[in-house]
Amino acid sequence: MGWDNLYASAFERVRANIDMVGKVLLAYNTNIDAIKYLQREDLEVRIEKAGQEEVLHYAEELPRRIESVPQLLGSILWSIGRGKAAELFVESCSTRFYMKRWGWDELRMGGQVGIMANLLGGVYGVPVIAHVPQLSRLQAELFKEGPIYVPKGEGENLELVHPKEFKADEENCIHYIYEFPRGFRVLDFEAPRENRFIGSADDYNPNVVIRPEFEEQFEEIAANAELAILSGLQALTEENYRGPLKTVKAHLDILEEKGIPVHLEFAFTPDETVRKAFVGILGKFWSVGLNEVELASVMNVMGEKAIAEKLLASDPVDPIAVTEAMLKLAKKTGVRRIHFHTYGYYFALTDYRGEFVRDALLFAALAAAAKAKLGDIRNIDDVVKAMDVPVNEKAEGVGEALTKVYDMENGIAEVNGYQLAFIPTKIVAKPRSTVGIGDTISSSAFVGEFALR
Ligand code: AMP
Ligand code: GLC
Repeated sequence: MGWDNLYASAFERVRANIDMVGKVLLAYNTNIDAIKYLQREDLEVRIEKAGQEEVLHYAEELPRRIESVPQLLGSILWSIGRGKAAELFVESCSTRFYMKRWGWDELRMGGQVGIMANLLGGVYGVPVIAHVPQLSRLQAELFKEGPIYVPKGEGENLELVHPKEFKADEENCIHYIYEFPRGFRVLDFEAPRENRFIGSADDYNPNVVIRPEFEEQFEEIAANAELAILSGLQALTEENYRGPLKTVKAHLDILEEKGIPVHLEFAFTPDETVRKAFVGILGKFWSVGLNEVELASVMNVMGEKAIAEKLLASDPVDPIAVTEAMLKLAKKTGVRRIHFHTYGYYFALTDYRGEFVRDALLFAALAAAAKAKLGDIRNIDDVVKAMDVPVNEKAEGVGEALTKVYDMENGIAEVNGYQLAFIPTKIVAKPRSTVGIGDTISSSAFVGEFALR
């Protein structure tokens, strides 16, 4: 069967079965994304005013956090020049005010939890319980209608309500997202691909501030969950990770006791100590999702420098190197499923077998293409609108290599006691925006797999 047929049949089966999935618990990061589509002249004038020399200094090397306007503008240039995403905490109030006055073109739901809650609950109709560190009125408005819940109250009065019913007037956690298209030019910089720089004017999510309800009543909150997805731990540092890690471990123990499979969305974690700590607890998760940069960073802290280099050496990423890296990670940690995504193809390495693993990846790739094409997926039928997006040509060579080395057939192979599932993805040439595609992929594939079981 060709890939287009496999795509179509995977979509139909997930759509027919998605309502079989029970409650999904989502923690920890939810915020407001203020998206600004960058304009060359505007940016050039701002760089000039802030002092070009100083700005260019930060375009060479990212600061650790943002404490001034030249650091902000330099970091944006750093992203543009490399076509890479980056995210930094904005510490200074005057820079936060500068960003606010610079403005935005669009306000959207942000954070892995917020984005996944709207997709799973608001689009697929899968009930979700979300952790929202601060529920301001604006934050609440960004939630779609549907079975999306936050816990409210305590003890016998603990109830699950839609975020719009929570009615608290907490703080706004705003992340300013500076998006640029492929080929975007400013000064001597030209973007090799579309991407974004994020400045987080947010004291809650970057520090993983966990709500008292989730600290004190997690057992009750998780009581009816069937699946869980954890995310938002990426900005922790050596100085502040111990407290949140302790809570995460306690949550994992409760989820494990209840037999709830948990997925970790492993976003890029710059701090090596924190990254090592997360590799250390990976065995408590059923599943982990990461891209090539994240996988390479994990190989680095595992002391696998050569393989880490290979993962970043070619485009598309060498699939044999990725498979080797996933095998090392699975064997070292005992995690049961590794979902790898890159521009052009996805893998799932699992210690269990079945075509449903591959089919869930196909569903996720269709959802990702729909998100890239439409910006927002309004209902599950929007997903099928991406069927006409062509399957990535570059992935042909990837498929051939896998057939040769692992005897892969129809995207499935047996490798060292694991099943390796592969799919070539659909790539939208001119995406509306890039933010949130990774979250769409990971949550659709994880939940899709349980719909098909
Ligand atoms: P992340 O690397 O976690 O930000 O996730 C981005 C993922 O989105 C990539 O690995 C790609 O698989 C996918 N992606 C990025 N751009 C597009 C696009 N234009 N069309 C379809 N998928 C995309
Ligand atoms: C990170 C950012 C958030 C964005 C999300 C998209 O969590 O902090 O602003 O919405 O990534 O994946």
